[in-house]
Amino acid sequence: MVKAYAITADAVAAERARVNDDLDKVDISRVVALDTLELPEVGPTDVHLRILAVSAEHNVDHAALADTVNITQLRGGKIYPGNSAVGEVLAVGREVTRFKPGDIAVTHCIGEPDPYGYPLRIWAYDQPESTGWYGEEAVVGEWQLIAAPLDCGLSFWEIAALPLRAPTAYHLWRRAYGIYRVKVPREHRATINVLGFGGGVSELFLMLAKHEGHNAYFCSGSPERRAALEELGITGIDQKAFNRFASRDDVKAFSGQVKKLTGGVGMHVVCDMLRGPVFPAGVACAAREGVNVSAGWQLSKSIQYDSAGASVKQLTLDHTHYETLIGCTAATELYGTVFKPTIHKEIYAFEDLPRAMHEMHLNTQTGIPIIRVANDLPASVAAIA
Ligand SMILES: NC(=O)c1ccc[n+]([C@@H]2O[C@H](COP(=O)([O-])OP(=O)(O)OC[C@H]3O[C@@H](n4cnc5c(N)ncnc54)[C@H](OP(=O)(O)O)[C@@H]3O)[C@@H](O)[C@H]2O)c1
Repeated sequence: MVKAYAITADAVAAERARVNDDLDKVDISRVVALDTLELPEVGPTDVHLRILAVSAEHNVDHAALADTVNITQLRGGKIYPGNSAVGEVLAVGREVTRFKPGDIAVTHCIGEPDPYGYPLRIWAYDQPESTGWYGEEAVVGEWQLIAAPLDCGLSFWEIAALPLRAPTAYHLWRRAYGIYRVKVPREHRATINVLGFGGGVSELFLMLAKHEGHNAYFCSGSPERRAALEELGITGIDQKAFNRFASRDDVKAFSGQVKKLTGGVGMHVVCDMLRGPVFPAGVACAAREGVNVSAGWQLSKSIQYDSAGASVKQLTLDHTHYETLIGCTAATELYGTVFKPTIHKEIYAFEDLPRAMHEMHLNTQTGIPIIRVANDLPASVAAIA
């Protein structure tokens, strides 16, 4: 038995009743609660991990709000969330070849791959029977782990920010860029304009674009997060100056600003992740032959658009979910060289994980939120913590 956080359908329902279904008033820290979890036996292909640190991820927010689907109810009334972690290997099954006790590993969040390696479902979310890593220890399959690149130049906390968000960004970028290149080859245009709207995944997406020599723009409401990206040469655009696109006039003003910034051309690639009012702004500012890509639906699950307008502009909308197994390993190669995440100024203690989740929900954090799970860190990790 280990301590692990859980979300129950009863807690979701009780919180919804308390706030009369007004999701703006939900207190996530009343829904995510410390529980216990019985670990399974370590099978021949399994790895027993001691969790060292985790990042707060938005799927926990969606699970606690039950705003996209009521995943806790669909999973039988209780889930153990947490699908981004860094851990120390305690023991391995007899057929495990890539890890030994003492190694440090990062996770990916694929629950079960399809024949091409893409996730059919996500671990600790909709993958049946999966239990997450917001706990002291876990037993996982070897296939779920990637060696942590401790010598990549990032601090341990920065590394802990990346296991879920970096592969998401890596996949979004290679898909969006590849699609754009089908339409406009390098022969015709070398440098493209790339826009991302606020959020940890978008920040990493823009780091990829910038690293490959493109013009990158970050439209966010957070001055701290814009400032961090400006240091990497990524131009900030204040989303709040356009009232977060509350009206058509705001979208028009934003589109005008983008035209000014890009010499009248617009954005060749846009990473959305939020949908809702952000989607029309991303479409309005797109360049001809542009690509609008998203793996998220934080503000709305549905979108509406003018299909004729998109055709005339040769605009492509692409929906991604998460990287393939192989792609997750490739994304991990880029820790430190390309991915330099901004992390929230407080490293939360394990007992403060519910507060970290709530502050993520309130959007008051200055970077990706990290929770320290283990008090004592192995020497290799302590050296970069
Ligand atoms: N498919 C996948 O594998 C996958 C992976 C990761 C994430 N996601 C999804 O993608 C979405 C974003 O994830 P993330 O990890 O990038 O999130 P994140 O780091 O928690 O950032 C969320 C961002 O949302 C922005 N925001 C909050 N309220 C807003 C509003 N009313 N209007 C406009 N922007 C608002 C904030 O940006 P500013 O305040 O800076 O503007 C904030 O930084 C979530 O829905 C998440 O579940 C999917």
